[in-house]
Amino acid sequence: MGKMDGKVALITGGARGQGRAHAVRLAEEGADIIITDICEQIEGVHYPLGTESDLAETTKLVEELGRKCLSYQADARDAERMREVTDEAVGVLGRLDTVVINHGIGLPHGTDPDSVEIWDTVIATNLSAVWRTVVATLPHLKAHGDGGSIIVTGSAASLVAIFNNAAYTSAKHGLIGLVKALAADLARDWIRVNAILPTNVNTTLFVNEYNMHRFCPDKENPTIDDMRFTAQSLNLQPIPWIEPEDVAHSVLYLASDDAKYVTGIALPVDAGMTIQPPGITPHLGARIGELEYQLRTNQ
Ligand SMILES: NC(=O)c1ccc[n+]([C@@H]2O[C@H](COP(=O)([O-])OP(=O)(O)OC[C@H]3O[C@@H](n4cnc5c(N)ncnc54)[C@H](O)[C@@H]3O)[C@@H](O)[C@H]2O)c1
Repeated sequence: MGKMDGKVALITGGARGQGRAHAVRLAEEGADIIITDICEQIEGVHYPLGTESDLAETTKLVEELGRKCLSYQADARDAERMREVTDEAVGVLGRLDTVVINHGIGLPHGTDPDSVEIWDTVIATNLSAVWRTVVATLPHLKAHGDGGSIIVTGSAASLVAIFNNAAYTSAKHGLIGLVKALAADLARDWIRVNAILPTNVNTTLFVNEYNMHRFCPDKENPTIDDMRFTAQSLNLQPIPWIEPEDVAHSVLYLASDDAKYVTGIALPVDAGMTIQPPGITPHLGARIGELEYQLRTNQ
């Protein structure tokens, strides 16, 4: 007997990374899955986003578990497209119980003129598109009267500032307000709304060429291993980053009846990153900020 038997979950940004891990974990517990992903590049993002073949791979992994999986190329910023694919998928699978709004981009910026466009792109993707996904999916969560769970992927940056990431920090802070407001509005319908706040995770959003150079300015060709020391200094627990599966366990908890009376919370899965005692890492954080500034201004 699985914790998600008879349930259907929709996951945005499900082609790879954390979204894929959530799809697999929820399917392992019996859910049928709907995954959406943009599967194309967003202008200005300095690492490759998910692809159609990534989306096909997640679909295969879910189906290998004996669950149904419908996948769609859909930009979460496009409210009409999100409504269209949700309506179609729920028409096939019969219902919707869980919505994991996980998609997102990391796009550092300073205060130079091009930061205006970057700001708009990040806010549109990491904040406004979360709302748009809620609007597209909520009618289906309400339709069956059994309640439901909306889980939003925030970040440690929902609680603390990240250097050279004003837009990302603002969007992720904003999600906490959105989660609380929705939790209040939807409690009477037994629809719970919560956020998870991961520390750095081993996905392309974090482990990419840009961040390798940012974390290892002394190396000409830095590798993932070269990132470990600085990355680890950001967490209290002695690890540089966590794996997508570590986040998926918390998503399952919030999706399942184990969290029946849990709503409106923001759950850190952050190896202690956001409770750093003063004096341990600020200089390191500031150093990364400085290095990133140098990287940007040298480009
Ligand atoms: N990796 C980290 O260190 C980290 C830490 C904290 C929070 N997060 C958050 O976790 C979430 C998942 O990211 P990840 O780490 O799995 O990175 P990822 O880049 O591997 O996955 C994100 C997915 O979202 C998709 N996506 C981006 N914009 C989209 C849009 N407009 N519509 C639909 N899909 C879109 C991408 O194509 C990609 O497949 C994001 O919200 C991110 O901000 C990541």
